[in-house]
Amino acid sequence: MTRRWNEDAVRAAFPSLAIRDEGVPRLYLDAPAGTQVAGRAIERVRRAMLEACANDGGAFRTSLAADALMVEAHEAAAALLGAGSRDEIVFGLNMTSLAFSFAYMLSREWQAGDEIVLTRMDHDANVGPWLTMAEERGVTVRWLEFDRESFRYRYDTLGDLVGPRTKLVACNHASNLLGTVNDVARICAAGRAAGAVTVVDAVQSTPHIPVDAQAIGCDLLLCSAYKFFGPHAGLLRIRPELRDRLKPLKLRPSSNAMPTRFAPGTPSFEAQSGTTGAIEHMAWLGSEFGGALPDAPLRDRIVAGLAAATDHERGLMRRLLDGVRDIPGMEIFGISDPDALAERVPTFSLRLPGRDSRAVAESLAARNIFVWSGTFYAYEAAGVLGLRGGSGLVRVGLSHYTTSDEVGQVTRALAEIARG
Ligand SMILES: Cc1ncc(COP(=O)(O)O)c(C=O)c1O
Repeated sequence: MTRRWNEDAVRAAFPSLAIRDEGVPRLYLDAPAGTQVAGRAIERVRRAMLEACANDGGAFRTSLAADALMVEAHEAAAALLGAGSRDEIVFGLNMTSLAFSFAYMLSREWQAGDEIVLTRMDHDANVGPWLTMAEERGVTVRWLEFDRESFRYRYDTLGDLVGPRTKLVACNHASNLLGTVNDVARICAAGRAAGAVTVVDAVQSTPHIPVDAQAIGCDLLLCSAYKFFGPHAGLLRIRPELRDRLKPLKLRPSSNAMPTRFAPGTPSFEAQSGTTGAIEHMAWLGSEFGGALPDAPLRDRIVAGLAAATDHERGLMRRLLDGVRDIPGMEIFGISDPDALAERVPTFSLRLPGRDSRAVAESLAARNIFVWSGTFYAYEAAGVLGLRGGSGLVRVGLSHYTTSDEVGQVTRALAEIARG
């Protein structure tokens, strides 16, 4: 039976939310850097290490269990990312290392004089790897800029940026600094029309909105399980034609077949299993609060779960915006129109007038409120916004486990700090 969103029930699904320090609860607003881990994920990790503690591919019980958990994890990830099958999923250490290894493999197809398109809004993990390979191969980099007032991409420039020599177009689904959700299908369509490989960084969208790699129309879509309530692992969805074309970086005796085609060594079985648990958490939200039947397909339950979470997060965003707007001189680096909240995730980068952002984060930490300060590896965006070299911004990251009361606490604390 579906019920209304219940903050207590959702929070009970995250064991770390109950931890107190000298009786003071922790207020976790650091989700864009890493969310808290769902109990289902923690339990999956524990069971993997207890019951499936062997390498894969053997004839005996624990190894067969490791094989089975890999199948389960790849299937769950395919449901999460809108892949056609589990054979389109690759697990890795984190998003950055996956991006580096795919950048290396893809750049073998590049020649001097070719071009790639990168963006000024991306986290450097979706810039640095491609930039490094472009420099090695003499490839020209073109930049998709964003508007400094609206915090949205200049989509009108795509036609000029992409051309017959474009080998790759890489962009971000949601920004880890601005919170903007971008029209990645439009960017990928422009790349595809030119025959380029298209790459989407979905690290910051996966925890908040349904991600459908096939509908987006990209060749590669990358994300990180520790940003969506799971353990430290990176994962990606690759279009089958590209998967079969790329020559993997691998040891000679290792298999060319999925799921280990792109695995340079033994994968973290426990991280894969924990990822299954995190995805099951989203599916649980769907059957508990999103109207999905408990036996509906996993993808349907995930989508329903994220819809319910989005609804809750929109209410939190409105409350946060109302609270910070009253603080004199407060700057919000991102969309702040309450009617445009569908175009952002609940990641708010703020600047308090005359305050060092690290000092603000420290003042909040003294109240057991956890936020990040800086520019969060959004290196190009920091340049565009004139933030390099300084203390950057204070980033308040809401999640579906955040309560309305917590949003009130952080806005009151920010107001106090602003008053000095
Ligand atoms: C948008 C975005 N992309 C990529 C990354 C890098 O992810 P990982 O730590 O898994 O390499 C991050 C991490 O903060 C991110 O926010």
